Amino acid sequence: MNNLDQLVIDAQAAFASANAAAALEQAKARFLGKNGLVTEQLKALGGLAPEQKRERGAEVNRVKAAIETALAERREALREVELAAQLEAEAFDITLPGRGATPGGLHPVSRTLERIERLFQSIGFVSVDGPEIETEWHNFTALNTPENHPARSMHDTFFLEGREDVLLRTHTSPVQIRAMLAHVERTRDCDPMPDLRVIAPGRVYRVDSDATHSPMFHQVEGLWVGERVSFADLKGVVTDFLRKFFETENLQVRFRPSFFPFTEPSAEIDVAFMGGKLKGRWLEVAGCGMVHPNVLRCGGIDPERYTGFAFGFGPDRLTMLRYGVNDLRLFFEGDLRFLSQFR
Ligand code: PHE
Repeated sequence: MNNLDQLVIDAQAAFASANAAAALEQAKARFLGKNGLVTEQLKALGGLAPEQKRERGAEVNRVKAAIETALAERREALREVELAAQLEAEAFDITLPGRGATPGGLHPVSRTLERIERLFQSIGFVSVDGPEIETEWHNFTALNTPENHPARSMHDTFFLEGREDVLLRTHTSPVQIRAMLAHVERTRDCDPMPDLRVIAPGRVYRVDSDATHSPMFHQVEGLWVGERVSFADLKGVVTDFLRKFFETENLQVRFRPSFFPFTEPSAEIDVAFMGGKLKGRWLEVAGCGMVHPNVLRCGGIDPERYTGFAFGFGPDRLTMLRYGVNDLRLFFEGDLRFLSQFR
């Protein structure tokens, strides 16, 4: 074997023992680099006679090509090894179950509002709403609330900066006024005026914050105006609603005399469960009464001819009772650990 064949064998061995790209490049330099062994052979050709030079040159070139082939093969082999190692290192288990998308759900208070609306719709009430930024006239004046009433003070109500005539509504009762005015307008050509029956859920605002009060909370207003609407109707409608809402006939309902400027007579509605943890305790859930004649007048309705009842429920309270929640603030903190329990 001549020294050129030996060179090929040496190069193949050197490349084979190189186990990484960097080592292979060093081995390459040893043979094919500027001062490499093959390059040396090419340089040596210069000193030969033309005849010998051609013969020897062809041989050296063949050797050079063989070594380059061996290098390329080794490079490819190393690349494959590296790729296999990388795939192994970055492997993931495609048989693992996915994380999945957790389904959303309605907020518990929204559930209550929808439930209340559905129950009242089933007896002919229509859902309406009004603005949360309300005029002082709709929120207080038209509701027979005198100028000196404490609710009209800055401490109890959020007024808008630079405006004295608008505020964040303190209750849903202003929707009564809006509903009456719209109804009168719509039924102008009817005599008698058809009954007005509306239910108005929504957000209301007061300067108040503790475990049972939030500066923003919910109310559901109800209003029924017609030719012969009485307090007995109010009691029947509300009692029936509460038993359906709590899904029990074992519920006592009490109308306790009270005062609101916009109703006369007025009452607070209390409920007592006849079993369970809260058994026998009276719990206030709403205010109500017969719509005050001054309020009917502000709504464009003749109080000599028509009467009506109104009520305002606290659906946050109803939700707490229905699900056994003891802190109102939980509803408004947006903590998913709490909210996801109602999905
Ligand atoms: N608006 C009253 C309140 O916020 C509740 C109420 C509504 C009372 C309708 C009587 C009639 O306390």
